[in-house]
Amino acid sequence: MTANPNPAPDIRKATMPIRRDIAFKLPAERATNWHGMGEQVTVFMNTLSLFFPHGERFFIDSIRHYRDAEQIDDPELQQAVRAFIGQEAMHGREHDEFNAMVDDAGLPVLELEAKVKTLLDFLQAHLPPSMQLSATCALEHWTAIMGGMLLDNPEVFDGSEPRFRDMWMWHAMEETEHKGVAFDVYRAVLGKGVKAETLRATGLVLATLLFWALVFNFHPKMMKALQQQQATQGKRKRRGLRQRVRGLVDLAQFTVGTKPGFLRALLPEYLSYFRPGFHPWDVDNRHHLEGVEALAERYAA
Ligand SMILES: [Fe+2]
Ligand SMILES: [Fe+2]
Repeated sequence: MTANPNPAPDIRKATMPIRRDIAFKLPAERATNWHGMGEQVTVFMNTLSLFFPHGERFFIDSIRHYRDAEQIDDPELQQAVRAFIGQEAMHGREHDEFNAMVDDAGLPVLELEAKVKTLLDFLQAHLPPSMQLSATCALEHWTAIMGGMLLDNPEVFDGSEPRFRDMWMWHAMEETEHKGVAFDVYRAVLGKGVKAETLRATGLVLATLLFWALVFNFHPKMMKALQQQQATQGKRKRRGLRQRVRGLVDLAQFTVGTKPGFLRALLPEYLSYFRPGFHPWDVDNRHHLEGVEALAERYAA
């Protein structure tokens, strides 16, 4: 008997995702300052959040297309797809609530979300389904490696409001749990030939450029709105230069520095996606799922 050179299918069986109905009931008064590293990092995370509801519906649609066309034969993969859809729908619901709360706090979340929706509607109308699925796998790679980073470095949330922290941890755990599903659908319907691998790599390049260009375009808009709103409310007349520089240094530390410098730290894992034959479960981080049921119980809807 030869050893299985690719353990991914076994891991998939061991990590069948489960839809969990969770409601965090976040405290609205902390919407713009919940992260332990202050407003810049809070608003950066809030900016990431505004992509989730429409983005995750795009992921669901791109997979549903192949499921409805009955191109997924494997019953276990069909079951995983059902759970994937359930999990992403739940993430969308919680992030919708979160985003509405941040919008109520005076940040232009709904306006920016509408831009994301317009873009995704355009892509859905003009890209072939295979490219949409490739983009989904690419962005699922991003959510999986970012989620893995948060779970590897829970101290990132030191000093954060606990409910907000737990919401991000829950999302990170479930992104880990279902990280192979879109990818397995891609393999099942498009295979692993040169054409499929090229389309997969192209999807990652384009999705990365588009996603981060929007994040770094939206984040200053969100910060500006927060500062204007605080000035209007008289909460803060004028931020001193030192305070502004401090906020930017914290954000730089968080993204490319050492606390945890996630964009820098994630580069090797990000690049591994380009390796022919890559599979998300090549990195076996199932241990991150250990606390998910306890978390789900604590916040059961
Ligand atoms: Fe998600
Ligand atoms: Fe996901």
